[in-house]
Amino acid sequence: MARKKFIAGNWKMNTTLEEAVALAKGVADAVGKQSDVDVAVCPPYISLSAVAEAVKGSNVKLGAQDVHWEAKGAFTGKVSCAMLKSVGVTYVIIGHSEQRQYFGETDETVNKKIKAALAAGLLPIVCVGETLDERKGGKMDAVIERQTRGAFVDISAGDAAKCTIAYEPVWAIGTGETATPQQANEAHIFIRNILTQLYGKETADGLRIQYGGSMKPDNAKELLAQSDVDGGLIGGAALKAGDFAGIVQPK
Ligand code: 13P
Repeated sequence: MARKKFIAGNWKMNTTLEEAVALAKGVADAVGKQSDVDVAVCPPYISLSAVAEAVKGSNVKLGAQDVHWEAKGAFTGKVSCAMLKSVGVTYVIIGHSEQRQYFGETDETVNKKIKAALAAGLLPIVCVGETLDERKGGKMDAVIERQTRGAFVDISAGDAAKCTIAYEPVWAIGTGETATPQQANEAHIFIRNILTQLYGKETADGLRIQYGGSMKPDNAKELLAQSDVDGGLIGGAALKAGDFAGIVQPK
């Protein structure tokens, strides 16, 4: 099955309001008219509304970097699915390794967030990936399997089909170290096999698996040429419109 490529920019904790609007306009100008690749930008919460305005009328969709699973109430600092919907968000990144490493995200909270997002009509980008120690210790497969199965507990095939998976080896994030195209593809095939066990071949074959970890214009083409690499979740290189565009349309 042909899967349309999907490139998303995770701006992390970068850009002021002004910088976010300028970057979003740059992205919309560069790749907002093409429709060969699905494109999204995920700015910090405070810039979501303004970025929604900046990409209006283009094919660039809006994503958020996280969400809380509760609908509303006394959860200081948190943002709900309904709030994200109300400012025009389509996608939400869930379970990013930085959330797991620094902010106590677990497979269980990932699962709760995915369920809440799907119930609200948001499309989750679910992140999985091993650390260097886990890879060196031969635990890579076990970690990825635990994270993938944990994310999808009690989620139907129909709902799973609305998700994107992002394979982000932690050792390749922001380090300049990239998984080789072969390493990335092997991990993606491993993840797709787990999804096949969970949901059957048709659903698993339809799901997009992005690669994330030091993806740049000069390595994007080879990574994206792999059979099971269906896009990218881009950190550092998403902060310059030209670099991001060079990943959406690699030369
Ligand atoms: P870098 O592209 O900066 O390595 O970050 C990847 C990432 O974490 C995207 O979510």
